Order: sequence, then structure tokens, then C-alpha cells
Amino acid sequence: MHPSPPLDPGLHSTLRAARRILVLTGAGVSAESGVPTFRGSSGVQPALWEGFDPMQLATPEAFARHPEIVARWYDERRALRLTTQPNAGHHALVELERRLTSVGGEFLLATQNVDRLHHAAGSRNVEELHGSIMVWRCTRCEEEREELGPPFETHPPRCQCGAPRRPGVVWFGEALPEAAIEAATRAAEACDLFMSVGTSSIVFPAAGLIEIARANGARTLEINAEETPISRRVDWSVRGKSGEILPQLLASG
Ligand code: OAD
Repeated sequence: MHPSPPLDPGLHSTLRAARRILVLTGAGVSAESGVPTFRGSSGVQPALWEGFDPMQLATPEAFARHPEIVARWYDERRALRLTTQPNAGHHALVELERRLTSVGGEFLLATQNVDRLHHAAGSRNVEELHGSIMVWRCTRCEEEREELGPPFETHPPRCQCGAPRRPGVVWFGEALPEAAIEAATRAAEACDLFMSVGTSSIVFPAAGLIEIARANGARTLEINAEETPISRRVDWSVRGKSGEILPQLLASG
């Protein structure tokens, strides 16, 4: 493994001067914790699960047709998540938030991840754009509960009201939580530095936040293991693992 090249000094001065930072994260940030990504070559992609393509399980139609299978698949991922830990990339983002807020700056972490590893690391101002696998919601009375215990006994689990409960994630075809996307949009309009970390930048509306930030004059940074559609449009595109690059950025910033 080659050490990463030194980061651009202009990036360091921008990071030091920034007073409003919006960070958008994706599955790549959790890859070094052993959580599979959806795309890209992180080496931990999900395989077929009992003959199903996981991407096809992530729809309201799949849950309606195969509630037991879809609930079991999400519950297995939830239980697996409980055995994983935040990595150096998550911790570096906690430190970035601490530094910025301690001098009166504003920091928002908008994540597409459903694993709550940013919370586990200690990040405070987090918006979950795609919900969370750790929260399950009743399909009738909409009661939500965080689930940190062993796998459910029945799939799907049942609410006290008798109706099935579903994972609190956003499925394909569903709207994003309104408050979360609004907060992220406001932060994109106001930020002076936008950071895209570990996301393939192809799933909208999250992938559109960078254009809002750019249109409002923000500098832009991408950290990703591979090239993405935004790599040539950002001010700085740093190729590497977020668990290595983010701590490096903070250490010398
Ligand atoms: P993807 O799986 O699409 O992309 C992961 C990105 O992380 C890729 O660009 C990889 O190159 C990069 N990557 C992998 N390992 C990395 C590492 N150690 N450090 C830095 N980068 C790394 O994940 P997302 O962009 O999060 O939506 O996907 C967006 C959405 O698509 C997901 O939230 C999910 C999915 O469909 C829903 O479930 C609604």
C-alpha cells in the first residue's frame, strides 16, 4: 500500500477558514467498518441473499409481496450492524464538528447511511436522508422505536396495535424525510465548504446538494476510493479511503 500523497495546502487553508461546513456521506464511509456498500469496488458488496438481489428488496412493493423475506433481510443487516464499530473516518468527522462548533461555526452531517455509525461515533448534528435501519415503524399507527436488541422472533415484527412493523429506511419510490432534506438543502445554500465523502453521487436528491452548494459559492471537496460523476467538478478530489484521508486532513488542518 502506498502512502497517500500530501494534501493540497489550499485545501488546508480553506478548511481552517471555513465557518459553515456541510458534509454528505455515503456507504463508503462505513466500508472500513465492514458494512457493505451498494456500488463500487470496496470489496464488501452485498451478494445475492437467498437468491434475491438486495437492491430489489428495497421497495414498498417487495415488502407488500414478501413481508417475511424483506423484514428478515433488514433485520439481519440490523443485527450485523450491532457487531460493527465506527472507524477512523467517522471519528474524524466528530472531531471536525467539535472544532468548528467550538469557534461558533456551523456543521451539518447529512448522511445517506442507515447504520447510525455516525451517531455511535458521537456526531451530533446529523440528518439521516434515507432513514435508519435501527428504527422500525408500525405500518398502521406509525409508532417508531429504536431496536438495539437481538433479531426479532417473528418477521415482520408486530406492533402492539397488531399491525406489521417495517424498517425506518427510505425505499425506492418513497419520499425522503422532509425535515432532513430541508435541513440539508438549507445547509447547502449557506455552507462555505461542501464535503462529499464515500458516496457514488448518483442517487438524487442527495446527489444534487453539491450543485446547490456550488451555485451559492461554496468550495467543494470529494473524498472517494474511486472516480465519480462529480470528481472533475469539485475543487479538490482526493482519491483514497475516508478512514485514512479524513484523519490526515484533520491532523494537518
Ligand atoms: P454507493 O454504494 O453507491 O457508493 C459507495 C461509494 O463509496 C463508491 O463511490 C465507492 O467508490 C466509495 N468507497 C468505497 N469504499 C470507500 C472508502 N473506504 N472510502 C471512501 N470511499 C469509499 O453508496 P451511496 O453513495 O451511499 O439508497 O449510495 C447512495 C444510495 O444508494 C444509498 O443510500 C442507497 C442506495 O440505493 C437507499 O437505500 C434509498
